[in-house]
Order: sequence, then structure tokens, then C-alpha cells
Amino acid sequence: MKNEQWGNRTGFILAAVGSAIGLGNIWRFPYVAYDNGGGAFLIPYLFALLTAGIPILILEFSIGKKGRGSAPLSFTRLNKKWEWLGWWQVAICFVIISYYAVIIAWAMSYTKFSLSLAWGDDTKGFLYGQFLHLTDDVWSIENLQLHIIIPLALTWGIVFITLYKGVKTGIEKLAKFAMPLLIFLFLIITFRGLTLEGAVIGLNHFFTPDWSKVWDYRTWMAAYGQIFFSLSIAYAIMLTYSSYLPEKSDVNNSAFITAFSNSGFELLAGITVFSVLGFMAFESHTDISELAAGGVGLAFIVFPKVINTLPTLNSLFGLLFFGSLVLAGLTSAISILEVVVAGIRDKFDMQRQRAVILVSILGFGASLIYATGAGLYFLDIVDHFINNFGVVISGLVELILIGWFLNLKALRKEGNLTSDFSIGRWWDIMIKFVTPAVLLFITIQNIMGEFE
Ligand code: PFF
Repeated sequence: MKNEQWGNRTGFILAAVGSAIGLGNIWRFPYVAYDNGGGAFLIPYLFALLTAGIPILILEFSIGKKGRGSAPLSFTRLNKKWEWLGWWQVAICFVIISYYAVIIAWAMSYTKFSLSLAWGDDTKGFLYGQFLHLTDDVWSIENLQLHIIIPLALTWGIVFITLYKGVKTGIEKLAKFAMPLLIFLFLIITFRGLTLEGAVIGLNHFFTPDWSKVWDYRTWMAAYGQIFFSLSIAYAIMLTYSSYLPEKSDVNNSAFITAFSNSGFELLAGITVFSVLGFMAFESHTDISELAAGGVGLAFIVFPKVINTLPTLNSLFGLLFFGSLVLAGLTSAISILEVVVAGIRDKFDMQRQRAVILVSILGFGASLIYATGAGLYFLDIVDHFINNFGVVISGLVELILIGWFLNLKALRKEGNLTSDFSIGRWWDIMIKFVTPAVLLFITIQNIMGEFE
């Protein structure tokens, strides 16, 4: 029933890169790398990229292209008993998009705040107090924050319109416009960051390896976690996008291009963020490790502070930084929701437009939970469980089922037939043994962590 297709290969790759490059690259990678040994983190990171990231990307591209359907349908076509795995991934995507959209909405508000530096000097007080209105009163509906709901509605509106228009005229067109623009804007920020006084202090911190961390298994867990999150794998996102590929498409090359573009951007974001933090440490005579706070804090507390401190063009820098966050987030959000739309369409034989309306209304409703004064509290809990269990377990099951119950060699040979270059037996070994073993270890550690 579904006969949509990408217009051309560049369109598909830009959409896949657009999905991969997201909030995870700009605010997550720099602090994860920093927390896990700085320069030394790059070793497990590269290892995870080559042993898990690229092999799984090739796997998801191949299965999507072959299955020509949403995750549940593609898995059913491989084996009738595997449909549930697809639905598990659809459910994860629905949960992720509901809070991911809220972070984009915050970034939209902060883009606007940049114009007047509305956050003032106490950027932490502003975020938690005036902006989020953090409260312990978790269940009170009166806590709904109208000023967050407006940008949230805008975010959902953009996602809705793009998906409503379809693969070629919606997703692909947006990616072709947004991705080059994002890279251009981000390069300006990088240039500005590197030319600030004190940038070197930050770069030294970022790249000076703490070798002891390489021997810590938690560093390796963090590296795998970052690769999964950042490359959008094990969420069926890449599988869904590749289901719109023409039969003769090259999956091997596309996977390498997507993975290296994503990691390249990630490294660029790390360099930029740390050169800016170096400047801040220099100006305020503080230790950089105090500034490199993770998560929400880095983008929404530390960066506004930096923007206040810049010698010139403060508002412009803010606009560029938060604008990039919005752009990067939107192209990812679209890919996450498309997984849900495709799943519903295939199952209920529904038209794209109807499925998009239904899923967007439900998703917007779910997002409202995070737009209350207790939103951050819910966001932390849900994010923790999704990343530590939802995704890792989904990846593990996907690899075990496909690696052990499917003819991997035949799948690889099929992909090689239409690719610029062939991949060898190493791929089978990664999918069958190495990555499942690592994921199993991570799952056990995570479960034990819950009881500590
Ligand atoms: N890979 C994107 C990012 O790094 O932000 C998008 C993404 C997909 C993020 C799935 C999180 C996620 F769970």
C-alpha cells in the first residue's frame, strides 16, 4: 500500500544525517566525553562507532530496504513472531518524541530570549524559577505553563506539516534546506568560539586524556550509550527511513557517510562547546570542571551565562546557538515521529495524512505532561529508563533475533550487490557476538545499578 520514495540519494542521506544530528550531538556529547576522560573517551567512542554504530546502521538500512515497511511490518516480514519488537520500538519513539519536543520548545524560547538577554544574570534561577516554574506539586493541572505550550505547539506544528506532506515533499525537502543551514550556522559559532580568549584552556581540558578512565568499564558503557543515542539506532528510525529507498540503493556507503557525518559534527560541537567554556573559565576565574555541567544545565544555564559575558554581538551568538539547537532538534524529532506514523499506517491500512493527524494530536497531548511545573522531574525519570533499559534491551533483542535466527551472510551479500564496496565477515561477527555481548553486559550493569 505504501509506495512513497526518496527523490534521490542525497535526500535520503541528508534526512538520515538530519535524524542523527540532534540535541544529543550538541549538548550531550560534550559533557559525556568530558565526564569520561576527555581525549581518552575518543578511544572507546571510536571502538563503539566501528563495532556497533556502523554495523547496526548497515543492518537497519538493509532490513528497512528489504522489508519496505514500518518496523512492525518489516519485522513481521522477516518472521511472523517478531512483530512485537517493531511495536516496542514504536512505543519507545512515542515516549521519546513527547519529551524531545519539549526540549526543542525550550530552545525556541531561548532563541527569543537571546534578543534581549532576557535571562538576566541569574541564569539558573531564571530557568528553574521564572521559566520552568519548578514545583513539587506534581499532579496539579494548574501547573501547565502557557509560555512553554506556545513554542511546544509551534514545534508540533512544524513536525506535523512536514510529515503530513510526506517523504519526498516533506521530510526530504526540509532536510535539504535545514542540514546545510545548520552546518553553516554552527561553523560560524565554532569560529567565534575558537577565536575567544581562553579557548585554548577549554580545548586542553577537552582533549587532555585521563587515561585511567579507559580502564573503567563505565567509560565504555557511556561510549556505547552515546553512539546509540546519537546515531538514532535501535529505535527503528533508520529502518523506517530506509524503507523508502529504491531497491537498487547502496546501503553500505550510505551507512558510512551517515555515521561519519554524525561523528564529525559531534566532534565539532565538542570543540565549540569547550572553547566557549574555556573563555568563560578565563573570564570568571572559575575552574572549567564547574562549568562543564551536564544535561539541561549546559545549554540552558551555562550557555546563557557565556552569552552574557561575550565582549560583542551577544544576542547574535545566542540566536545562532539556540537556533542551531532548534534546527538540529526538529529534523530529529521528525524522524522519531515518522516511526510511529509508519507503524500506525501499515497496521490499520490508514492514509498518511490521517495517521499524522492522529499521532500528532496524541503526541502533543503526551508532551503536555512535561510542560507543567513538574515537567523536568518527569523528564529525568522517563529519559533515564528509556535510555538505560528501553533502547539497550531493544538493541539487544534486535541483534539476537536477526543475528541468530536469520541468514546474516545472505543479508550482507544482498546489500553488497548494490553497494559501491563490499563488507566482509567482520560484520557478521559484530552483529552476532561482539555487540550483543556488550549490550548484555550494559543491561546487567544497569539493572544492578537500580538496586544500589
Ligand atoms: N540522534 C538524535 C540526537 O542525537 O539527538 C535524535 C535522537 C533519537 C535522540 C532518538 C534521542 C533518541 F532517543
